Amino acid sequence: MNRVVCPGSFDPITFGHLDIIARASSLFDEVVIAVMVNKTKKTLFTVEERMEMAREVSSKYPNVKVDSWSGLLVDYCKANSINTIIKGLRAVTDFDYELQMSQMNLQLQNVETLFMSTSPSHSFLSSSLVKEIASYGGDVSSYIPAPVLVRLKARLDSLAALPEEK
Ligand code: PNS
Repeated sequence: MNRVVCPGSFDPITFGHLDIIARASSLFDEVVIAVMVNKTKKTLFTVEERMEMAREVSSKYPNVKVDSWSGLLVDYCKANSINTIIKGLRAVTDFDYELQMSQMNLQLQNVETLFMSTSPSHSFLSSSLVKEIASYGGDVSSYIPAPVLVRLKARLDSLAALPEEK
């Protein structure tokens, strides 16, 4: 079986991620969305919440599954007998770091990385920008699926209701 892993923080998953996942699902027998836990990165959503959202919005693709991992991506690949990573490339600004990681992953465990160019309609999109715009009350409904929007608004509202830190 031809399997590929699509890794990321998915904090939260956007239409840009889904575009890559959907297109990968037509090229591979199975696509695994790997929600990565990075202990040094502060996320808005827990790993369980990020997985739930990813599951919810990818449920129409029968060959897409969701998993999580804390540690090196190549160790996930080896533990699950997956030899290929797929990454979306938005612009040249993504390229340097993605190239470096792909070469390191090849060196570490002989895991290949394939880059898929993001649809032009999503080339400017990132989870960080979506969170920033939403936190200032901007409309992000065209960038994230409806169930994700509901959770994002609820999370931002609950954070806004907290007393300010001094
Ligand atoms: O959505 P992100 O935060 O841009 O995704 C980056 C991610 C999680 C795919 C990348 O940081 C990663 O692969 N992290 C896992 C740890 C790891 O394997 N680090 C070494 C990379 S060469």
